[in-house]
Amino acid sequence: MRLKGKVAIVTGAAKGIGEGIALKLAEEGSNVVVSDIDLNGCKNVCDKIEKKYKVKAITIKCDVSNKCDVENMVDRTLKKFRKIDILVNNAGIYPLKPFLEMAEDDWDKVLDVNLKSVFLCSREAAKVMKAGAKIINISSIASLIGYQNLAHYCASKSGMNGLTRAMALELAPKKINVNAIAPGAIETPGLKKVFNKEVEKQIISMIPLKRIGLPEDIASAVAFLASDESSYITGHVLVVDGGWTIQ
Ligand SMILES: NC(=O)c1ccc[n+]([C@@H]2O[C@H](COP(=O)([O-])OP(=O)(O)OC[C@H]3O[C@@H](n4cnc5c(N)ncnc54)[C@H](O)[C@@H]3O)[C@@H](O)[C@H]2O)c1
Repeated sequence: MRLKGKVAIVTGAAKGIGEGIALKLAEEGSNVVVSDIDLNGCKNVCDKIEKKYKVKAITIKCDVSNKCDVENMVDRTLKKFRKIDILVNNAGIYPLKPFLEMAEDDWDKVLDVNLKSVFLCSREAAKVMKAGAKIINISSIASLIGYQNLAHYCASKSGMNGLTRAMALELAPKKINVNAIAPGAIETPGLKKVFNKEVEKQIISMIPLKRIGLPEDIASAVAFLASDESSYITGHVLVVDGGWTIQ
């Protein structure tokens, strides 16, 4: 158990990759704040954690793009656990929209939920984090290459990589490590909304390891970056995509 006694906040943890991360961190011994706009989903994840692992888990409803919600999430975490060791900025959205039809509101929504959120959550958490704490941002391979109908998303995730490096630099004197993970295609409820079976087949044919990833594939990388084993890694973007982007 690499994370025994730690306290982790995972945003967007009610399902998909966030749920996988929350479960993995709990398996590694961390207490978990399961946070999302979907409180019922959070409760399900908390129940799973408490049934399976000997750690504490609490749910906190939080829209990561809302400053008051974020402040409340950090306050309640401190009231319950007295510290924050790990913050995983996972909450994110990827609605498809052709560039020429993209309204200003479409752009603002994606940038607020995917990028401003990382600034808000990380700033609040970093104020109270101590040496050895970790911030892990869930980016995307869309931060590295362009995708049709996802201009806002690609921009938000590229911005996240830049923010990761800048935060890593400014938080290094406090001995807080900041890294990002860039997943490829991962099987989640969110991805199911944008992929049909035909698209899925095409994508698998482009992935050298010949499968869609699972939330567990991302969660393992998060557990490593959250542990002391990665204490000399900061400002890095770790691609976890079955080799999709190496060709
Ligand atoms: N699934 C993939 O293939 C894939 C690939 C690359 C990156 N990602 C990234 O991984 C993260 C999770 O994606 P997923 O596929 O698990 O998505 P998902 O849609 O399955 O789950 C996302 C969760 O985030 C929550 N959420 C949405 N808006 C929120 C907000 N404003 N505040 C708090 N919570 C909010 C949702 O309620 C949901 O529970 C996202 O940042 C996404 O960009 C996913």
